[in-house]
Amino acid sequence: RELTGEVEFENVDFGYNPDKIVLHDINMYAKPGQKIAFVGSTGAGKTTITNLINRFYDIQDGKIRYDNINIGKIRKPDLRRSLGIVLQDTHLFTGTVMDNIRYGKLDATDEECIKAAKLANAHDFIKRLPDGYNTVLTGDGSNLSQGQRQLLAIARAAVADPPALILDEATSSIDTRTEAMVSRGMDALMEGRTSFVIAHRLSTVKDADCIMVMEQGRIIERGTHDQLIDMKGRYYQLYTG
Ligand code: CTP
Ligand code: MG
Repeated sequence: RELTGEVEFENVDFGYNPDKIVLHDINMYAKPGQKIAFVGSTGAGKTTITNLINRFYDIQDGKIRYDNINIGKIRKPDLRRSLGIVLQDTHLFTGTVMDNIRYGKLDATDEECIKAAKLANAHDFIKRLPDGYNTVLTGDGSNLSQGQRQLLAIARAAVADPPALILDEATSSIDTRTEAMVSRGMDALMEGRTSFVIAHRLSTVKDADCIMVMEQGRIIERGTHDQLIDMKGRYYQLYTG
C-alpha cells in the first residue's frame, strides 16, 4: 500500500456552491487504523465530510492531508483507488459471484477472492448457492437478499485492501441475524484500517476511537462514547433519546 490511512483536516470550509458554505472550520485527525464515527441529524454534513475525504470536490479553504501530504496536489482518481472505498449501494453486475468480488482488485486470484469472502463472512452463504462461487448474478443482484449483497460488498472491499474505508451505514431493513453477520464482516474489514463511519444507529459507534457529533455543518462535540456521555450534551441527548 502507498498510504497508511492517516487523514487530517485543518480548518476546512466547504460549500457545494461557494456562496453557501455547508461545512465550517472542520478540524480532525485520524491515526492509521482508527475508527472515526459521525453522528448528527439529517443535513448536518456527515456525507459531505466523507465526500471530501475522497476529494470528490475542491474545498474553499483549509487543508486535507493524507500521510502529511496536502492532497490538493494529487489527481483525484488516483486517490480514490488508493484511499477510500465507500460501502454503500454497491453495484453488482451480471457475472459470477467470483467476478463480482474480484471487481475490487481486477488481478486478484480466485484464492484471494475466497480469502476475502471468508473475512467478510460471506463464504458460507456463497457455498450454499447453486453453483457456489460460479453462480451467475443478475445485473442488479436481485437474486440475492439485501444482506447477501452487503456481504459481497464487504468481500469486494476486502479484496481491494484499501488503507481507509468510508461506511455510510444503510438504514436497511435486514433481519437481526443477517445484520449480525454483516456487522461481524464489517468489523473484520475495519480491523487495521482507518474507518470513517456514518452511523444511523448509535449502538454501532460505541466502540469508535472518536465520535464526531455534527450539527449544521460543524463538529459540536467529539470524544469517545463514555466521554460524550459524561459531557451530558448533544450526544447524551441523542443517546438517551
Ligand atoms: N447539500 C448541498 N448540495 C449537495 C448535497 C448536500 O447543498 N449536493 C447540502 C444539504 O442541503 C445540507 C448540507 O449540504 O444542508 C449537508 O448535507 P449532507 O452532508 O448530505 O448531510 P448528512 O449529514 O449526510 O444528512 P443525512 O443524515 O440526511 O444523510
Ligand atoms: Mg448523508
